[in-house]
Amino acid sequence: MSTTAPGRAIGAPLHRIEGPQKVTGTAPYAYEHNVENPLYLYPLHSDIARGSVKQIDASAAEALPGVIAVISHQNAPTLADTRDRELAILQSDEVAFRGQYIGAVVAETFEVARHAASLVRIPYDEEPHDATFTPDRDDLYTPSQLNAGFPTDTEEGDVDGAFSSAAVTLDETYTTPLEHNNPMEPHTTVAVWEGGDLTLYESTQGAHSVRRLISRLFGIDRDRVRVVALHVGGGFGSKGQPHANTVLAAMAAHVVEGRPIKFALTRQQMFACVGYRTPTVQRVRLGADENGRLVATSHDVVEQTSKIKEFAEQTANATRSMYATEALRTTHRLAALDVSVPSWMRAPGEAPGMYALEAAMDEMAIKCDLDPIEFRIRNEPELDAETGLPYSSRNLVACLREGAERFGWEGRDPTPRARQEGRWLVGTGVASGMYPIFRIPGSKVRIRSQEDGRYAVEIGAVDIGTGTWTALTQIAADALEVSVGEIDLRIGDTDLPSASVAGGSSGITAWGSTIFEAARAFRDRHGQNPSAGDTVEAGMPDNPDTQNYSMHAFAAYFAEARVHEDTGEVRVPRMTGVFAVGNVINPKTARSQFIGGMTMGLSMALHEESLLDPRFGHVVNHDFAEYHIPTNADVGEMDVTWIDEDDPYVNPMGSKGIGEIGICGSPAAVANAVYHATGIRVRDLPITPDKLLR
Ligand code: MOS
Repeated sequence: MSTTAPGRAIGAPLHRIEGPQKVTGTAPYAYEHNVENPLYLYPLHSDIARGSVKQIDASAAEALPGVIAVISHQNAPTLADTRDRELAILQSDEVAFRGQYIGAVVAETFEVARHAASLVRIPYDEEPHDATFTPDRDDLYTPSQLNAGFPTDTEEGDVDGAFSSAAVTLDETYTTPLEHNNPMEPHTTVAVWEGGDLTLYESTQGAHSVRRLISRLFGIDRDRVRVVALHVGGGFGSKGQPHANTVLAAMAAHVVEGRPIKFALTRQQMFACVGYRTPTVQRVRLGADENGRLVATSHDVVEQTSKIKEFAEQTANATRSMYATEALRTTHRLAALDVSVPSWMRAPGEAPGMYALEAAMDEMAIKCDLDPIEFRIRNEPELDAETGLPYSSRNLVACLREGAERFGWEGRDPTPRARQEGRWLVGTGVASGMYPIFRIPGSKVRIRSQEDGRYAVEIGAVDIGTGTWTALTQIAADALEVSVGEIDLRIGDTDLPSASVAGGSSGITAWGSTIFEAARAFRDRHGQNPSAGDTVEAGMPDNPDTQNYSMHAFAAYFAEARVHEDTGEVRVPRMTGVFAVGNVINPKTARSQFIGGMTMGLSMALHEESLLDPRFGHVVNHDFAEYHIPTNADVGEMDVTWIDEDDPYVNPMGSKGIGEIGICGSPAAVANAVYHATGIRVRDLPITPDKLLR
């Protein structure tokens, strides 16, 4: 399907607009932009976790034919703003974590740059470091706030009192490991500094946020920085905010002014300094009355951050509004270590937090002698417990019921280890999913009628592979009441009106609402038959309903796990996901996002774990040979569907963000199925075979 009737584009399963370009290899990713006479950058990473660089001896490297420059703190450009210590690289001899950038080699070819980098001699003054994450450290502290501005601690009612008088109680600790994002396209910058203007072809989730930060760091006018990101091969949060690799490329471009710099990280380098998911230790306490209704809930979290920059995930955020409970407490504590800076990764906070909560709910259902679906339904809240607001729409129960039907839950024998096929123990599990609707400000849209009769719809938003090119075209068509063939969408460039980051599953809400606003302004001013060249620009409209309603997407997940009795190998032949996400803009791309999210959930449950060696401070399994992600053979049948949900409050499209909900709750469905299969409750992810062998 390549076009639609006017006003009927939202909801149509359009093919990806850029699909033909992508499959023919002509869609330019950052590294593939044609620039003349480029140079190649290879970074120098620190080999110590704390201390200082004594000296950079580049003589052997500089003697190599083809080497143009060796950049270090001895000769790097001075930054105008050094407050962000992750980004303010090469400003002193200090080393704050292993893998930190301490320099770069620029050469005529990548191979020469890489070889020359190996010839740079760097003696250090090493100081003792501390990279050991444990929940019982005596220096844990309370951050001032969490990511996205959420409060650190919350308390409603007498949690301890309610817990001690509860008929049924659970007090367990769940842990999730350090994890790395690993988008297929590495972090990449092509930087050109010419006549005082800087152009960055960048692999990023937010072109305008890169421009804002880079112009501030270098102390140059925002108008003199252009960031282009037409196609991006995944981000998952690691490209949500610029990391030091972008600064390094811009510095090098400044040093060799006039010649473009190409810098793409290797897979191994991506484990050093582009962010990661903090490990978490989560103590969950639940108390219920004799009818299986929660009277006390507490969720206490310990995470790690870097000493040079604080990042605190909202791990217990979902717990604050997930179920009805009389008393509720959540806390977050941090250990600041000599490590690189954690950052956003695939539903930061909600993903690991929902794993712990939904595994605890499974355990608690068993203690209450209730079916886990029935236990969740009994604790369905009327209002959002945190804000006291009604939900704009909350169809978790419908998702659980629909999922139970599709998956074949009815008649399930809850006895663990009751079903066996040959040497395979077979079990099933369920979990709820939830993700908040974020409204990130800062977007603008320009609409212009073109000579060819089509409408240029312009916003500097980025498509990180999720289908934004297509979904925004559909939204624009309906907003202007024309067919999709009449829309000429332009995104991915700071020359276009500003756009908020493609993060927090917020893109379509922010950009789509703004497109609707601009379309209304355009029709008001220019009517149905505009002249070529007619233009309007509009900003993101306010949504007063955000003050009156609690807004979230919901889901239910089901998984079947088969565990081999002799080897502990876990197979997940099928998963079902049922989503309540308002109006689905494009069923085809949405389905891919749900499958992707659930695959990430499977991956979180069974595969992913970055192993940091505290003696040296680096991640040792820093490649796809040892950092496991599921391949096709690991993923069984993914049954994905969604319910009809009409939510008139969220935004003009009636849509909810769908990027991250797929990983919120799905890991617990797998873990709960493994318990049902084996009778072994593994509370520390990932569930590797060793943890199932007794
Ligand atoms: Mo996503 S982890 O909010 O970029």
